[in-house]
Amino acid sequence: MISGRKDGPLMKSTSPPLSRASRIAIAVAVGSLLGCICAFLYPDGLFHEATSRIKSSQASSVSCNSAEKVNMLKSELVSLSEKLAELKKEIRDLNKKLQLAEKEKDQAQEQFLSLGVQRKAFPFGKEKGLRTNPSILPDESINPRLAKILEKVAVQNELIVALANSNVKEMLEVWFDNIKRVGIPNYLVIALDEDIEKFCMSKEVPVYRRNPDEGIDSIGRFGGNHAVSALKFRILREFLQLGYSVLLSDVDIIYLQNPFGYLYRDSDVESMSDGHNNMTAYGFNDVSDEPSMGWARYAHTMRIWVYNSGFFFIRPTTPSIELLDRVAARLARDPVAWDQAVFNEELAFPSHPGYIGLHASRRTMDIYLFMNSKVLFKTVRKDSSLSKLKPVIVHVNYHPDKLPRMKAVVEYYVNGKQNALESFPDGSEW
Ligand SMILES: *[C@@H]1O[C@H](CO)[C@@H](O)[C@H](O)[C@H]1NC(C)=O
Repeated sequence: MISGRKDGPLMKSTSPPLSRASRIAIAVAVGSLLGCICAFLYPDGLFHEATSRIKSSQASSVSCNSAEKVNMLKSELVSLSEKLAELKKEIRDLNKKLQLAEKEKDQAQEQFLSLGVQRKAFPFGKEKGLRTNPSILPDESINPRLAKILEKVAVQNELIVALANSNVKEMLEVWFDNIKRVGIPNYLVIALDEDIEKFCMSKEVPVYRRNPDEGIDSIGRFGGNHAVSALKFRILREFLQLGYSVLLSDVDIIYLQNPFGYLYRDSDVESMSDGHNNMTAYGFNDVSDEPSMGWARYAHTMRIWVYNSGFFFIRPTTPSIELLDRVAARLARDPVAWDQAVFNEELAFPSHPGYIGLHASRRTMDIYLFMNSKVLFKTVRKDSSLSKLKPVIVHVNYHPDKLPRMKAVVEYYVNGKQNALESFPDGSEW
């Protein structure tokens, strides 16, 4: 399946793909623009101008030796290539503007729809449901101190947030070193103990420590991974209430590019997947077979590998906040529940008798750009074309030997050490 990929994800535009119709429209617009510019610059035609210049240069001086002519032709060529480069740049700019306009049009239509005004259906193929829910109104009063910090740290109301206590100090350092190297300014560590707070301050890493007397925080200081996960959903709520979109990040993640250039921002939750190929990550029809049913032996089931609750982008919308509340409440009721399972169940299950589903909109991130360590070690490192592409992040979520694998990822993708990943087995060795 994977070896069949022709174009890598990194070769694609980072903005949402355009429809076929709009691509044709762009091509036509670009074509006619090019025509107009050429007509303006060379009213008699490109070739006419070039040949007439050559002719006049031939006629002007008989004494001119051929070396001079060659030089003149060369400089003609240079100036023509320069003009071509300029035109190409204009076309690129125009393309960008067109894409932006398309996106704005879509957003305007969605906003109109979100007003809930009753209207007639659009013609066939023109209807589009609402998936980009409107942001809630920010409420600074819920945490003025955090509001002040976020005002400074966030870029366009977006930031990366990670929770850390002293158990993960070494990984945290690799985490922020790579964020700094990529040049991402908008990130914040939520320090769950004093040691981490001081460590971040000493490294000039933006840090926020909650007031220790706040009840939910005692979990953070002593808690293992899962207890910290529960706390995470409670704290995240405040960021959303303050009007910010959060890219929640575990610390076992290597940043290789700025993720904010690769988000679609059209869903309540946009998450990396635990899936390891297109099927498992993006969903598939899994047919179950029960031969005793005879004619009706096949039953179709919809399957998708879970979202990774250690790396997701969440917008400040009503369904997003409801999601965080539901997950936090369930984790509080059931201390052995796994936060990632709960997170996915709340996102996935529809309403049914005795249950009202959440129905938040969701988007699965590109598995080769937002890569889990199963994809990297099982597939990508062995595939000659996939191994050449640079992901946005790599999450070492599938392997317990996190720190050495994180360092190997840096060696491979940052320092170009071709064999840096080779010594590791695909999975963990028990
Ligand atoms: C996987 O999905 C991507 C994006 O939809 C697509 O470009 C690619 O061709 C698919 N690869 C395979 C092997 O189906």
